[in-house]
Amino acid sequence: LVSTMTIDPAFRIGEVDPRLYGSFVEHMGRCVYTGIHEPDHPTADEHGFRRDTADLVRELGTPLVRYPGGNFVSGYRWEDGIGPVENRPTRLDLAWRSLETNHVGVDEFMTWARTVGVEPMMAVNLGTRGIDAARSLVEYCNIASGTYWSDLRGGSPYGIKTWCLGNEMDGPWQIGHKTAGEYARLALETAKAMRQVDPSIELVACGSSGRQMPTFGSWEATVLGETYDAVDYVSLHGYYQQHDDDRDSFLACATDMDAFIDEVVATADHVRAVGRHRKRLYLSFDEWNVWYQSRFAGETNLEIEQAPRLIEDVYSVTDAVVVGNLLISLLRHADRVKIGCQAQLVNVIATIMTEPGGPAWRQASFHPYALTTRYGRGTVLRPAITAPTHETARHGEVPLLDAVAVHSDAGTVLFAVNRSQTQPMTLEVDLRALPALSTATHTVIADDDPDAVNTAQHPDRVTPRDLDDPKLDGGRLQVTLPALSWNMIRLS
Ligand code: AHR
Repeated sequence: LVSTMTIDPAFRIGEVDPRLYGSFVEHMGRCVYTGIHEPDHPTADEHGFRRDTADLVRELGTPLVRYPGGNFVSGYRWEDGIGPVENRPTRLDLAWRSLETNHVGVDEFMTWARTVGVEPMMAVNLGTRGIDAARSLVEYCNIASGTYWSDLRGGSPYGIKTWCLGNEMDGPWQIGHKTAGEYARLALETAKAMRQVDPSIELVACGSSGRQMPTFGSWEATVLGETYDAVDYVSLHGYYQQHDDDRDSFLACATDMDAFIDEVVATADHVRAVGRHRKRLYLSFDEWNVWYQSRFAGETNLEIEQAPRLIEDVYSVTDAVVVGNLLISLLRHADRVKIGCQAQLVNVIATIMTEPGGPAWRQASFHPYALTTRYGRGTVLRPAITAPTHETARHGEVPLLDAVAVHSDAGTVLFAVNRSQTQPMTLEVDLRALPALSTATHTVIADDDPDAVNTAQHPDRVTPRDLDDPKLDGGRLQVTLPALSWNMIRLS
């Protein structure tokens, strides 16, 4: 297989907003309890947070974490999670049929966020609650002092900038599920009240829970038709998995993410035109990942437990390559997608795994995410690509190469995926439009066993490797992308 690519700094898509590399902590399964928080753990800090998890979160480099849900938020009373811990009620969380002790609430989350150096993105409950609970939470978090809720908080305000107006309100599984019209009215009035408390906040309206939702498209049109001037972003959620043995389709699922983003952009711009709005709306892809939903189909009748093991997917090399490809898709849309949250951060379809009382380790998917977060900073460039294609059952004809480039003063970085399961690909890159280059490094995630995974016993079975194959000569680069691989080529 041979592909060619031309990179030119003039082919500019947009600047990477670092929040594109966000993550998500939900009160679900073991994400919070025994994931980030475990007071009895040998590494626990004075607030009960695991230092081993915190170290991996810093290494992952995520700058933003969405909290506290997810489906959980649609039944959540945030007031249960403030004040003395011993006085907090234990509630039945209906989203996951779990016991919620409220030992972690907004104050503890903010302590953790500051410790690990992430910006919070807060969701309000528009399922069972509404305007009053939402505006009180903004007051609690962002007003300095002198009001009921801010004085209950004490200390300096949290200054939380980005707020989600509910979660997946289009989904029949959501507590307090609404029609588009019902949600649009509530979202608009809640947005107005929240902004009256703090005019500096940014707001995200719920878009569709997935491109496959029957209301996708009309939901966005109705919701944005009502809320366009009151919000800054519309959300997208997308989860991908391999179906049966159709790995070729799975490896090409980023084409589905591309189409989803393009369709939401088109819908938002249609509403902009119809409403004669001046501002442009941006996208918040605030839940995305590989999630083998079919493996967990039987988990709906849960025993009521505290911190049960829920959807703890173990990710393979193939999954890691797909995660890297989904990040390429997000980067390719950096002009419109400003926020992205990989769901989730710890234990629940996560990049980081932990055992209660035991170790924390990196899943295979941790690696493309951490490397893209670290090196994918600057201006995204659209490469001109010629590549072989093949036919897939779910996505039709797709290119075997997917790639994007990110350019900054530090150099140019190419992120590329070879979707062929069997054949390496020679990639020839024309870089003559870039300032003279003298070094090229090639980091790859690929393995003789594409199903290899990391476990507590073998936490480093899957790691990135450096190859010494790049040939750089007179502004032309040649590298070989192994079969079924994610690649990062750094040029300077
Ligand atoms: O991330 C897991 C769940 O997936 C979230 O709670 C929900 O928003 C989505 O359906």
